[in-house]
This record gives sequence, C-alpha cells and structure tokens, in this order.
Amino acid sequence: MIMTSLLLSSPDDVLIAILVKLDVKDLLSVLQTCRALYVFCTSSDYIWHNIKINFPLNLPSQVITSISAAELRKRCVEGLRVDHNWCRNPPNLKSLSRIEHGGITDQIQFLPPQWLVTMSRVSTSVGPTSSILSIWDCKASGEAKRIERILLEPRGLSKFSATISEDGAHVLVVIFGNARAEIVRVYYIPLQYNDYRAEPDQYILSRVIADDVADTVFEADICGEIVSCLVARFEMGQPVYQVLFLNARSGKHRKIDVHTLTPFTQLQIHLFPDSFLLLSGIQNIHNLVLQIYNVTSFLWTLKSSANNPFASTSLGTPCAEYTSSTLGARHQEYKLSTGQRSTVAALCFPTGTNNRLVRFPIHSDNNGVTRLGPQSRLQTYTFHGAENIAMSPEFIVLGHCGQRGVWLEHEWDEQSDRTSFNPMKGVFSSDQSKAVNVGPLLPRHMALPFRTNTCQSIAFDEATGRVFLALYTGEIHVLNF
Ligand SMILES: *[C@@H]1O[C@H](CO)[C@@H](O)[C@H](O)[C@H]1NC(C)=O
Repeated sequence: MIMTSLLLSSPDDVLIAILVKLDVKDLLSVLQTCRALYVFCTSSDYIWHNIKINFPLNLPSQVITSISAAELRKRCVEGLRVDHNWCRNPPNLKSLSRIEHGGITDQIQFLPPQWLVTMSRVSTSVGPTSSILSIWDCKASGEAKRIERILLEPRGLSKFSATISEDGAHVLVVIFGNARAEIVRVYYIPLQYNDYRAEPDQYILSRVIADDVADTVFEADICGEIVSCLVARFEMGQPVYQVLFLNARSGKHRKIDVHTLTPFTQLQIHLFPDSFLLLSGIQNIHNLVLQIYNVTSFLWTLKSSANNPFASTSLGTPCAEYTSSTLGARHQEYKLSTGQRSTVAALCFPTGTNNRLVRFPIHSDNNGVTRLGPQSRLQTYTFHGAENIAMSPEFIVLGHCGQRGVWLEHEWDEQSDRTSFNPMKGVFSSDQSKAVNVGPLLPRHMALPFRTNTCQSIAFDEATGRVFLALYTGEIHVLNF
C-alpha cells in the first residue's frame, strides 16, 4: 500500500520509467493492487509497447506497436497462464479435439495466429496417388475449417514450407522436390473460404524448371516473396550442393554455389530479408555450425529486370559463423526455429544423453536487418535424456520464438520388448535464470482416442501451446493446453 501511494505521487514520466522496467508478471500484479494504477497503465500504450515480455504471445500481428495496451494486457495474462502450465510436468490438458482430414497427412505446419497448412496423399480407385495441399483456419476457439484444397500435379513435389504474406491476408507456400523437370512451385493463396471453386493453377505465383534433370530440392525456406532452396545432384558419384534463390513475384531465380562443411549429418536453412543461414551438423568433429551469408546485393540482382553478367556465382564466405560443440555426437537430429524476426535457436539430440537447445546471438530487427552478436553470447541449455534407455526423437518442432518445443520420443523398453511413442515437451525460457523444463507432454498412462505410434507429423502453436498430431489414419488430433 505504501509503495503504491508512493508510486502514485510520482510524476507521470517517473512512474512510467519505473513501470517499464518491471517484468510483465510484476506489472500485472501491481495492477491488481490499485485501481488508480490499473487505470493509469491500461491507458498507456507506451508502457505496454516497451516492457520486456519474455514469453511467447498470441498476437494477430508481429508488430507490437500496432496493438493497443488493453489488448496486450489481455494477451500477456493468457501468455502467462500458458507459460505457467507448460512448466508443469506434464502440463494440464484442457481439451482434445479432432480434425477429419482424410488421406495420409505427410506434413503439417502451423502459421500463427491461426493457420494450419497440410500436405496429404490420397489414393483413388482409378489412377495413382495424388497429393493435396490444404489450408485450415484453426482459431483457438471453435472448430477447424478447411478454407482451401488444391490438387497438386504432377507428383514429386512432396515437401513444403509456408509463411504468411506481409499483408496478413495470404499464405505463401513453396512446394519442392523433383517432379519430372519441375523442382519448385510457389502458391499465393488468399486466407478466406471460397468453396474450393478456384482453379488450382490460379494461385501459382511462380515455378522453377530445373536446368539439370538430376537436380533435387531437399530443403526450402521462404521469407517475404523470396524463396531459398538447397539443391543437390550427383556428379560422378559425388553430391554437389547449390542454393537456389527465387523472387516469387518477378519469377527471376539463380543458383549459386555453396561450400558445405563435410561430412555433415544434416543441413537446415533459414532466410532473413537480407541474409541466408545455413546450419550444419559436422560429423567427425562433433560441431553444430551456423553460417550467415550476407545476400543483400545478391537478392537485389533478382529484383531488377536487367541481367547482371557480373553477379557472383558463389555465396562466398560467411559474414559470421557460430559453433556449438556437441561432444559425443555421432549422429544428431536437430531443428531450427522458424520465426521470421525472432531469435534463431536449434534443438539438438545427439546420440547419448547430452541433448541441447542452442540459441544463437542473431536476429532480424524490425527493418529486416540482420543483427549479429559475438560468439560469447551463444546460449546453451543442456537437458538429459533418460539413461539406460535407447531413445530417439522424431517430428521435432521448435516454436517460432525458440522457447518451447515438442517432439515424439521412441522408447525401447527391454522388459516388455516393445517400443512406446511418447510425446514430449521442452520449455527453454529466454530468461536464462530459469531452468530448462523438459518432460512428458501427457500423463504417462493416459487413455487417448488414438495411438501415438500412428503419428506422421506434428505442428505446434507455441503461443497458445496447442499441439497438432497428424496421424496415418487421416485424422489430426488437437491437444489444447
Ligand atoms: C550486407 O551487405 C550490405 C551491402 O552489400 C551492407 O550494407 C550491409 O551492412 C551488410 N550486412 C551485414 C549484416 O553485414
């Protein structure tokens, strides 16, 4: 009481300066204590736009300054509830719902705040299997609704990566692989229900035909209207890697050479507006290496209509490189967080028990400029798998903020001679003073209306904690926490 009256007698600017320094959690409790402070804070956008929020928020837009104080306060209260729940082992499951998808869903991806993109296979009595791309509206309250369903022809473009357009009204989906000659196709799909009456081809923004039939695209990421892809082909028995950049709007694309660190276990890529990130797990020296290439001037050449004969043919040397040692790791599974603007993190599971989340000191600021910190600011959070039990993770999904992840763990139980499939969760707060919190997502012997061993893909809404499990049976189960 004394403190609040002291606070209230301070000039407004002093009061604001004090409140902005608080943790959101403390700010919310201060608001509970006094009506006058409550009114003062909820009317100040400035406080809410500048306070440090260290957990994921479920926001309609990534631009925080476009959101009112009242809305932000509400989202913070919800966010804190989710944060609290996710730190429990296991978290409280509020409800379970089901989406009747149909077909075999091979890949699903959640795009905040409410979109689910899926790719499935259906076999028809005549003709071969075909692939279907679907967009679902999955508002946190209410039923999921399919708003688009596109038949993909020809077969062979079998993976995708998706993002929401800058205006928030479209989804950009890049599908890739190798379908006869076509290796990349980009769809630009409006986020509104239309009875699937549109011609599927009407949403194609651009496509790339390989200039070498041996080319296969095995990874892709999309940022704004720029697509980056990893292309591989065999030349005299040796794999050769290149990066393909495509401006989906102009259709201009170029392949350039990239020097990969070998032997690697897996490559992952991420594209920022001005830089290209390549994450490699190096096999023999047991390192995880993130290389950042400045592609500002290269991407510029894809925008202009003129052909530039002097444009570089190689990515050159990285402008920054971060290394995280992963001793004892012969093979590892890892996953890069996929946020457009947030921090870059990788969740890795080396064989053995030294699992880790690595947060790299790099982010893309509000103007799309890549900001790089020193190697010394790399953060590592270690967590241990159970000893004596052979486990391997699958379907790893790390949220956009890199603060929560889910995966499926196969656990070989020697006694029963059976493998069990356990959904797991991890909480890796950006506040390093908090401990890492890894554990089962569901109570161990919970009766579920499906079998976890039929899981084909997982999607994750980090901000609300919703988990989508796509099953072999054509259903998607939604776990609401
Ligand atoms: C990337 O290169 C451009 C010029 O080509 C430069 O203006 C920019 O500062 C560079 N960015 C980084 C992160 O080094």
